[in-house]
Amino acid sequence: MNERIVSAKIQVYELEELSEIEKNLIKLAQDATSRAYAPYSKFQVGAAALLENGEIITGTNQENAAYPSGLCAERVALFFANSQFPNVGVKLLAIAAQTGGSFTKECTAPCGSCRQVILETENRFDTPIRILMAGSEVIYAVNSITELLPLHFDKSSLNG
Ligand code: THU
Repeated sequence: MNERIVSAKIQVYELEELSEIEKNLIKLAQDATSRAYAPYSKFQVGAAALLENGEIITGTNQENAAYPSGLCAERVALFFANSQFPNVGVKLLAIAAQTGGSFTKECTAPCGSCRQVILETENRFDTPIRILMAGSEVIYAVNSITELLPLHFDKSSLNG
């Protein structure tokens, strides 16, 4: 038996250390949280995607009384972006969340299904997506979803 260690490189920032573009995208994700539809979890998530053509698309989580029918903020944003601009890659994605009237102190990392959709978007446009996961006290960043999704399944896996 052999073991392989898979490690992830995660950058840890304070807000002031980020560029103006990145700070602005986090602000837009935070603003979006107030437009979430999350009556069941009361956990309001906002995502803001900066596209390669400069467009910014935001999304929020959309819950449903039939719980699995809802969708996360990241997928709402990316599916909308990819529908509006089917030939334009995504450069930067910011994620923020609030609950109980305050932004979460810790960062919100994308769920497994969102990671898979972010990976598909990276591969579709052959463009890595830098992801900013914003808490009010700390911001985590990765330069590609592959850091958060090692040993992933993508189109190359289909070749056997
Ligand atoms: N949620 C997101 O929108 N994005 C995430 O990254 C994590 C979870 C949503 C799904 C559900 O509406 C609520 O947060 C609680 O899980």
